[in-house]
Amino acid sequence: MGESLRGLKRTIMCGKLREDNIDNKVTVMGWVQRKRNLGSLIFIDLRDRSGILQVVFGEEINKEAFLKSDGVKSEYCIAVTGTIVKRQSPNAELPTGMVELRGEYIKVLSESETPPIYIKEGLDAAESVRLKYRYLDLRRPDIQKIFMIRHKITKIIRNFMDENGFLEMETPVLGRSTPEGARDYLVPSRNFPGNFYALPQSPQLYKQLLMVSGYDRYFQIAKCFRDEDLRANRQPEFTQVDMELSFVEEDDVMELNERLLQSVFKEVAGVDVKLPIERMTYKIAMEKYGSDKPDLRFGMEINDLTDVVKNIDFKVFQNAIENGGSIRGIKVPESAGMGRKQIDKLVDFVKTYGAKGLVWIANREDGVKSSISKFLTDEQTSGILNKIEAKTGDLILIVADKNSIVLQSLGALRLEMAKRLGILENNKKFRFVWVTEFPLLSYNEEEERFEAEHHPFTMPMDEDIKYLDSDPGRVRAKAYDIVLNGEELGGGSIRIHNTDLQERMFKVIGISEEKAKEKFGYLLQAFKFGPPPHGGLAYGLDRMVMFLAGTENIKDVIAFPKNQNAFCPLTEAPNIVDKAQLDELGIYIK
Ligand code: AMO
Repeated sequence: MGESLRGLKRTIMCGKLREDNIDNKVTVMGWVQRKRNLGSLIFIDLRDRSGILQVVFGEEINKEAFLKSDGVKSEYCIAVTGTIVKRQSPNAELPTGMVELRGEYIKVLSESETPPIYIKEGLDAAESVRLKYRYLDLRRPDIQKIFMIRHKITKIIRNFMDENGFLEMETPVLGRSTPEGARDYLVPSRNFPGNFYALPQSPQLYKQLLMVSGYDRYFQIAKCFRDEDLRANRQPEFTQVDMELSFVEEDDVMELNERLLQSVFKEVAGVDVKLPIERMTYKIAMEKYGSDKPDLRFGMEINDLTDVVKNIDFKVFQNAIENGGSIRGIKVPESAGMGRKQIDKLVDFVKTYGAKGLVWIANREDGVKSSISKFLTDEQTSGILNKIEAKTGDLILIVADKNSIVLQSLGALRLEMAKRLGILENNKKFRFVWVTEFPLLSYNEEEERFEAEHHPFTMPMDEDIKYLDSDPGRVRAKAYDIVLNGEELGGGSIRIHNTDLQERMFKVIGISEEKAKEKFGYLLQAFKFGPPPHGGLAYGLDRMVMFLAGTENIKDVIAFPKNQNAFCPLTEAPNIVDKAQLDELGIYIK
């Protein structure tokens, strides 16, 4: 049941009312947050997306409205007309808390069943229920705030891109599979039975074609689709702020994007991002932080101890050295007193990263304790402590193995220890870093061949092109990632626009001329017609919103997200379809 508006107009939104509005006659419309009946007076907190306003009904104000107001319940959608007055007992918590609306007329626009989730800030309901009733979840003021931030971010980005000469252009969602690493979402074709479109993992090849077409500077806020394992910062369907520029080198792309980030973070969060943003090579990031997305909000860098421990007669160290590996460690402050049980947990932790064990040295006030004390002379112990610059109270954690395992496990342990020590809790700092000089290729041990680390159109660094055939693993790329607090916010590269170099690249990664033609013949063909030097970058917009909205869950920043199984509890997608639909597509389900 509900009444029509019949000419009734909203004059202002609930959250806008202030003392300036006293004596104004207004009409507001929204949802009933709660109702309190105090006998002679009935109070309703009315909510719309701008905020909450207290409305008071009384026999003396208007009897008809008073009686009618008693019938409303939580989440009824109502309209109220009346006069704004000063509130007897102000509520400092509410922006509208100095005033209230005297309800002279009320219209029930629609009724509501009792909602399955309570609509309030900081709700702690099960995710399955929240997603099933997402439209109610989205009524929560804290969630609505996130979408206002999201809107603001895209608005600032659009303005910035426009001011910097970019053209916003759309590219197809029904395309063909691109070589980008993740699994594709496929869409069957009715016109070509047995043929499939692929949803874009990114607009990568289209934006390169637009450069060939002379559009010079393109951007798009683009939906991308990747069928991959989901995590806290990954959705199967997500949004990129995607851009491509002609006639540029790395510095041009990075400099422009630094200004973009600066303006977004300033306007949305009032944060001053100091430019230029620090740059760090991939090699240093891996060596010091064990990660290509280092979190620089705290220290605990990885130290190479191989030199100072190489004479220690401890088999694990000796084996690592013999196998071309290394011995490295981190020092954890204020942790030398950690108990055995807790240390054992750390050992289990690094094992999940492939390490066989963890050596510890505790630099305690009453002396040094270590899991390998029987192998260490005093001199060797102080050699290690000096090298890592340990202070009293530091716990040194050491892994010996092949380099990839040592760096990965210590990188993860570093983050884990920061978490345990509460170093990152309430740390509102935004610490950006560009990671540069990524390897162009990585070796796929299973297939015994090199493959493109980013994508096969990424330009190698000029000084490394000479190694492309003789030592491909050594070639660095003109690729860059923008990392924020240990998360990859975006990434991009300068692309190859020279056909000879492109052919060499294909050869190195074992793609035959035929295969290349079959997979991306259209791009190679386009590159025969004067492609400009070009490069670009794409941000994960959802991730940017997560940072600026202060949430660690990507689902919070997407209006209708999928759950961990890429399922939508609200619409129940994916779902089976009619046999007739399948027949039309020539599809038979096994
Ligand atoms: P890349 O694959 O690095 O680059 O993607 C760019 C950014 O998109 C975000 N991202 C995701 N966000 C949410 N869920 C996901 N499943 C997901 N996957 C990626 C990340 C990432 O940094 N075409 C290139 C860009 C270029 O070279 O210009 C590309 O897609 O924040």
